[in-house]
Amino acid sequence: MNHVEPSVAARLDETVRAVRAKVSLVPKVGVVLGSGLGAFADGLADLVKVPYETLPHLPASKVVGHAGNLCFGHVENVPVVCMQGRVHYYEGHPLWQVVHGVRTMARLGVSCVLVTNAAGGLEAGWSAGDLMIITDHLNLMFQHPLLGPNDDSLGTRFPDMTNAYDPTLRAQLLEVSKAENLPLREGVYAGLTGPSYETPAEIRMLGVLGAQAVGMSTVPEVIALRHMRMRVAALSCITNMAAGLGTGELDHKEVEETAKARRADLQRLLKGWIVKAGRT
Ligand code: HPA
Repeated sequence: MNHVEPSVAARLDETVRAVRAKVSLVPKVGVVLGSGLGAFADGLADLVKVPYETLPHLPASKVVGHAGNLCFGHVENVPVVCMQGRVHYYEGHPLWQVVHGVRTMARLGVSCVLVTNAAGGLEAGWSAGDLMIITDHLNLMFQHPLLGPNDDSLGTRFPDMTNAYDPTLRAQLLEVSKAENLPLREGVYAGLTGPSYETPAEIRMLGVLGAQAVGMSTVPEVIALRHMRMRVAALSCITNMAAGLGTGELDHKEVEETAKARRADLQRLLKGWIVKAGRT
């Protein structure tokens, strides 16, 4: 008998059914927690953790600094779901699997998603530890999560990406940053596959292309969410200056340590934003 691949929607239904069998909370806001930022989920009130490996189609990440749990809980009465860790394309997962977690959050009923990541910074005058609102992206992965037959039940064949990073959600992040006295940069995120960091020549090229930050995630997730017409915002923790712009070699330990050092500030920002976004 021929093996027929299940559709994206069929897989999503299976994952969502498995989640609903374990958790009754219906989340209003979704958050993806990137490298070194997963601890935010442990502070949720009424926390329920569902390990990815207990759910169909959600692979666990093997990258240090990335746990693998779907976390449910509340931030000041706003019901929230967080992805504590994500899988990356460079780990060898097909892109449908890389974006399955965010699609699951969308199907669970959230009205918006905030995606966070660790990224290298390209701008003169910026430094490791800066936080940046993503205003737009460059998909330089030469891959795309929507290749193949389109699932019309999820979204249109040719999704618009004009306001991929929702202007209202971005304005809310800026309001919180002012109220909390936490300066935020703004810029374009270039998504590459990794897993090697870039060469200094590649970083010069990305600068010419108009990127302020570079990383190895986020772009496929945002495309898949916009396909579903989900409102999206994204924040980068600039964990290092990009290759050739800093003082030494790049190293994942440094990425994790910088993200951890900004964890408390990022948590304040996330909390304040969730309360605002949960009201709208
Ligand atoms: N390049 C790509 N991805 C990254 C970097 C970087 O410099 N820092 C953190 N993630």
